Amino acid sequence: MGGRRANEFTVGHHRKEIIRGMVSSMGNINKFDGIAAQYDTPERAAVASVIAGRIRACVGAAPDKTAIDYGCGTGLVGLQLLDIFKSILFVDASENMLAAVAGKNASARTLRADIMAGARLPAADYILLVQTLLHEKDTRALLARLCGALNEGGRLLLVDFDKNQRVSSPDIHNGFDRRELAGILEKLGCRLNSAETFYHGENLLMGRDASLFLMDAEKLPPQDPFRQD
Ligand SMILES: C[S@@+](CC[C@H](N)C(=O)[O-])C[C@H]1O[C@@H](n2cnc3c(N)ncnc32)[C@H](O)[C@@H]1O
Repeated sequence: MGGRRANEFTVGHHRKEIIRGMVSSMGNINKFDGIAAQYDTPERAAVASVIAGRIRACVGAAPDKTAIDYGCGTGLVGLQLLDIFKSILFVDASENMLAAVAGKNASARTLRADIMAGARLPAADYILLVQTLLHEKDTRALLARLCGALNEGGRLLLVDFDKNQRVSSPDIHNGFDRRELAGILEKLGCRLNSAETFYHGENLLMGRDASLFLMDAEKLPPQDPFRQD
């Protein structure tokens, strides 16, 4: 949840473009840059496979739909899902995390960006937000910006930790109350399709046992203020 500064960020596809933007400069993003090369432990890879399987079951096949994996990290989850979407854009504020994605799949499309620091995302039909919301202080603002990038009828697939009173950290949320998140998403114009805890694991969050949920929220058409029914 560190500070931000104006900067330039790169858009990878392999051919690199430079666009003006704002990038997180301190705190968590520096931390993620520092751990990118060691991020892929067998434990994280195993949990990522469970998450990818859960998302796959939720989406089914969406061969005509575009997706963004926001806060993609090293691509542990998203790279397993390339076959179900028309395309996935891997987005992260950490350059080293994106380099890990590119190192695993040379044709993966990557974008270094932080929407909390003013960057814009292209429109997408699906946005995956996996184990990333807990790192952002302003939950509502991040969700609002992601919903803003969804096409009408698009879906936000949010995977994160259930609220866990045994975890306490100044840097991350100790999980989330799903009803609170559902309330935020509804106010942002999304309908909740489903929300369920799908995984319990040992030492999953700050050395504590924890559980992960998946929320599937669909962006509704804008409300007509004059409609009466
Ligand atoms: C715990 S990792 C999760 C990575 C991946 N989603 C997974 O589950 O394996 C969180 C990732 O979110 C990125 N991140 C954190 N805050 C971000 C922000 N505001 N904008 C873009 N990426 C962010 C970090 O750089 C990091 O790669």
